[in-house]
Amino acid sequence: MANNVPVPTYESLDKIYDSSALAKQGPRYNALVEKFTSIYGRKPDFIARSPGRVNLIGEHIDYCGFGVLPMAIERDVIIAVATTDDDSKVRIANMNPKYEPREFDFEGKETIVTIDSTKHEWSNYFKCGYKGMLERADNLEKPKGMYLLMDGTVPAGSGLSSSAAVVCTSALATIEANKLPLSKQELTEIAIVAERNVGVNSGGMDQSASVFSEQQYALHVEFVPRLSTRLVRLPETQPPMAFVIANTLVTADKFVSGPRNYNLRVVETKMAALFLSKVLDLPSSDSLKEVFDSYAAAAGKDNSEVAKYDALLERIANIFPQDSSNGQGYSLEEVSDMTGLPVQTLKEKYMTRFPVETDYFRLVQRTHHVLTEARRVVEFVDVCSKAPANTLEVLGSIMNASQESCDKFFNCSCPEINQVCEIARQHGAYGARLTGAGWGGCTVMLTTESNVPTLIEAIKDGYYRQKFPELSQDQLDDAVLATKPGSGSAVFNGF
Ligand code: GLA
Repeated sequence: MANNVPVPTYESLDKIYDSSALAKQGPRYNALVEKFTSIYGRKPDFIARSPGRVNLIGEHIDYCGFGVLPMAIERDVIIAVATTDDDSKVRIANMNPKYEPREFDFEGKETIVTIDSTKHEWSNYFKCGYKGMLERADNLEKPKGMYLLMDGTVPAGSGLSSSAAVVCTSALATIEANKLPLSKQELTEIAIVAERNVGVNSGGMDQSASVFSEQQYALHVEFVPRLSTRLVRLPETQPPMAFVIANTLVTADKFVSGPRNYNLRVVETKMAALFLSKVLDLPSSDSLKEVFDSYAAAAGKDNSEVAKYDALLERIANIFPQDSSNGQGYSLEEVSDMTGLPVQTLKEKYMTRFPVETDYFRLVQRTHHVLTEARRVVEFVDVCSKAPANTLEVLGSIMNASQESCDKFFNCSCPEINQVCEIARQHGAYGARLTGAGWGGCTVMLTTESNVPTLIEAIKDGYYRQKFPELSQDQLDDAVLATKPGSGSAVFNGF
C-alpha cells in the first residue's frame, strides 16, 4: 500500500463515513462548527479527523515487532481548527464539559511544549501530537497560533484506542495548520513515538489503524523492517459475517495501571527476548520478533510462516529455568542471571523511563502468548485470503484461542471480559475475545449479520441488565453495537 501519500482532504462526509452514519454525523459536524463559532467568534478553517480501532487479532505483540490485524471504526475524534499569525498560542476546548478549556504557548524550537506525564490531563494528548509534529518541522520558525474545538466519540479506556485517535487527530491538525509536508507514514511514525510522552510505552498498532484504514478492509500492519500496511479484504461468507463490539464498561486506563499492567508486559517480553537470544546463541536482542527472525534464518529451512513459529515454540518448550517462586515468575535477580545483565542495567534500561511495579517477571507465559498470538495473526490473514467453506468457524476458533491465551498466559483479561465472551459464544458468536490492551474495555465478537440482533440482546440481558441495571436504553445501545471496517484519518473542509 502506498504509505508516502498525504492524508486526504474531503469536502463531503460520505467519503469518510458509511452511508448509514450520515444522518448522525452531519448534525454532529454542524454542532461542532456552531459551537466553535460561538466560542471563538470565527468559523473554523478545517476539521481534522482520526478514528478509533478494533483489533481483530494480534494482541500485545505489536511492541514485540509482530504484525497485527486491526480495523478502524466509525467512532472517532474530530477537531475544528482555525489558525492565526498574531501569536503562537494554542487554545483548546472540548465539546464534553468534563474536559475544561486549556491554553498553552509554543515554548521555542527546542522544547516545543512541556508535557507533564505525571499528570492525567486530557490536553496532554493534544500536546503529544503537537510536539511530535513540530519537532519535525525544521524549516518552521514559529508555528501558527491555533483555536481548537475537539469532539470525541471513542469511549476513554475502552480498548478502542481513544488516545491514539486524539494524538493522531492532534498531529493532523498541527500538520494542516502549519502546512507541513508530512505523509501518512510520517504522521503515523511520529504519532507512535509522540504518544509515549504521556507515560505509556505503547506499540504502533493503534496509530497505524487510525491513519491508514479504509472502508471495507481490515489492515495488516507490520513493523519490521519498518512500518508497513496492507489492506485485507474480509471474506464474503455464506451467511455473511459481522463483527459486534461490547464494552464491559470496566475502565482500563493504561496510564493509571501502566506500571503493573501494560508497561510491565512490555518489559517482560523484552527480558524474555534477551534471555532467548542468549541461550539460543543468536545476536543479542530485546525484541521477540528479532529472535524469531534470527532463529528462522539460522534454521535455514523453507518452512511456511506457521511452521517457523511451531519450530521455535518446540525449541524453547523446556528452555526456561525453574523459578524460585513456585511458578509466580522470576525475581529481578533471576532475570539478571538469565540475561547476563546486571540488575542495575536492567533497572536503568527497562524500568526507569516507564516505571514498573512488580516482584516477579513471568517470562515463560508471556513468551508463549506472544509467539502463539503472532502465529494466529498469520493464520487469520491466510484464512481471509483463502476463504474456505468453514471460514466463520476457523476465524472464530482463532479468536477464541487468542482470548484464552490473553487470559491464561498474558493475564490481560478480567472476569467481565470472560463473562461477555462466554455469553456471546452461547448466542451465536463463532469467536469472542478482548480487543486492545484488555484489563477491562471492549470485546470483539464474530457472528453472522442475521444473528447480530440476537447476540446484542443476549449480552444486554445476560451482562448489562445484571451488572449495570441503571443504564438507559441509549447507554445500552452505545455499549454494544455492530461495527464495519471504517476509513482512516482525513481533513474535512466541506462546511
Ligand atoms: C494498546 C496499545 C497497542 C497494543 C494494544 C494491545 O492498545 O496502544 O499498541 O499494544 O494495547 O495489543
